[in-house]
Amino acid sequence: MRILLIALLGGLLPTGVLFAQDTTSPQTTNDATLLKDGRKVAGMCRTCHGLDGKARIPIAPHIGGEPIEYLISQLQAFKSGEREHEMMTVVARGLSDDQINSVALWFNHFDVTATLPAGKTEDDAPELCVGCHGVNGISELEDAPNLAGETNIYIETQLKAFRIGKRVHEIMTPIAKDLSETQMQEASDWYNNIGIEITDPAGN
Ligand code: HEC
Ligand code: HEC
Repeated sequence: MRILLIALLGGLLPTGVLFAQDTTSPQTTNDATLLKDGRKVAGMCRTCHGLDGKARIPIAPHIGGEPIEYLISQLQAFKSGEREHEMMTVVARGLSDDQINSVALWFNHFDVTATLPAGKTEDDAPELCVGCHGVNGISELEDAPNLAGETNIYIETQLKAFRIGKRVHEIMTPIAKDLSETQMQEASDWYNNIGIEITDPAGN
């Protein structure tokens, strides 16, 4: 943990300097430059989320191909303290709004495909969740995250956080409170067991 945080904090400084230089250049902001900026910021995220948003540690979620609105809202929530996590709070506090927007675009621009495990059909998916998170864990809504391939550890941690009020959301709080232990485990296992592939459509 300590090594990760040091590597992370070491990464914050040079990027900050790069960004300070960027703002003095007369460049207009378009998607291509935003994406380039986002890739630089993503250098700070790769130890845990990978440069392509495929998580490298079990407690971190996959974020490649997530809806952009969702990514921005969560980074802002970590920054403001509305959502808390010892690693992400430190990361998000160090990001400007521009960096949040560009890194969100970076992780959003990937394509993610999900495959059901062998022997399972759509009918086996947890009914209570599929309307928003999809049968295969690819979100049906702009403000809901993909759950495909997230570890049980991550999914259960979040459901418990909603349940005890550590994380608050008008839809997820009541859903998490109503779930039995078995339902929680079944839903976590379902999404955990889905295979994902994250690819870069632009080859960046
Ligand atoms: C030291 C490891 C680490 C680094 C570095 C890191 N993250 Fe995270 N990130 C995590 C962990 C762990 C979580 C899960 C937090 C929780 O349990 O609430 C997380 C959660 C997130 C989430 C919420 C996703 C969701 O599905 O709700 C986003 C978005 C995110 N990180 C983006 C980033 C970005 C962008 C960067 C780089 C600027 C970054 N992270 C750097 C470990 C890290
Ligand atoms: C009506 C829509 C809806 C339904 C149904 C729903 N969710 Fe959600 N879920 C959301 C939204 C929206 C969020 C984003 C919450 C936020 O912004 O903090 C979310 C977030 C989550 C997260 C956090 C994921 C992350 O990446 O941090 C988990 C885990 C989750 N839902 C699990 C479930 C499970 C399991 C079910 C079924 C038992 C379920 N949800 C049903 C809308 C829904």
